[in-house]
Amino acid sequence: MKILIIGGNGTIGKKVSNHFSKKHEVLIAGRNSGDVTVDIAASQSIENMFESVGNVDAVVCIAGEAKWAHFDSMTEEDFYIGLKNKLMGQVNLVRIGQKYLNSGGSFTLTTGILADHPVDMTTSPAMVNGAIHSFVKAVSLELKDGIRINVVSSGLVEDSVTKYEDYFPGHNPIPMKKVINGYVKSVEGKGTGEVIRIYDT
Ligand SMILES: NC(=O)c1ccc[n+]([C@@H]2O[C@H](COP(=O)([O-])OP(=O)(O)OC[C@H]3O[C@@H](n4cnc5c(N)ncnc54)[C@H](OP(=O)(O)O)[C@@H]3O)[C@@H](O)[C@H]2O)c1
Repeated sequence: MKILIIGGNGTIGKKVSNHFSKKHEVLIAGRNSGDVTVDIAASQSIENMFESVGNVDAVVCIAGEAKWAHFDSMTEEDFYIGLKNKLMGQVNLVRIGQKYLNSGGSFTLTTGILADHPVDMTTSPAMVNGAIHSFVKAVSLELKDGIRINVVSSGLVEDSVTKYEDYFPGHNPIPMKKVINGYVKSVEGKGTGEVIRIYDT
């Protein structure tokens, strides 16, 4: 399979890319690094990425940001960061990318545990993650040519513990092998419209 991984050089992305590259042709896209650069917050940049890469069998997105802050300090603009980047960035990847997916191909998006188990300061990321879960279920009913779509929602991953553990009191970190397997299940399995939850609550 030819697999395009957006965010494939990130903390989770590099582990997932390394795994898939043992069996598949992997192309990495990122804002500042990779085989091709893209900013998922800009539709034209997504179009340019697909034009340069051509048709693929799987698109995996492991990128997307939203603002973490206390609700009483959040401005309307602060909410638009996550809406434009993590939510519409991934929606637009599917909207534009469906033209570049070979029949029987797949999309795999990324959200996170905050959709189901929010912590302090996460009104925006939790909301965005939940919206993506609903989007994936709905759009899976309409994608044509056997194209599948799933989303991987994991807890705090082992490789990010030192960076984020203070935000996740009492959370059990997810081993990277389990996270990788969420993406493998989506790309190499047959399921569609699934929210692949990898939590240890
Ligand atoms: N880390 C965790 O514990 C965890 C758990 C559950 C869910 N998640 C979610 O998983 C995703 C990846 O997390 P991570 O910790 O691996 O992040 P990370 O280490 O910051 O890596 C993110 C990657 O995505 C790329 N990227 C960021 N914004 C982009 C954009 N607008 N357009 C294109 N590429 C972009 C970055 O490329 P550049 O460096 O070139 O900008 C980078 O390679 C995030 O959505 C996060 O919310 C993370």
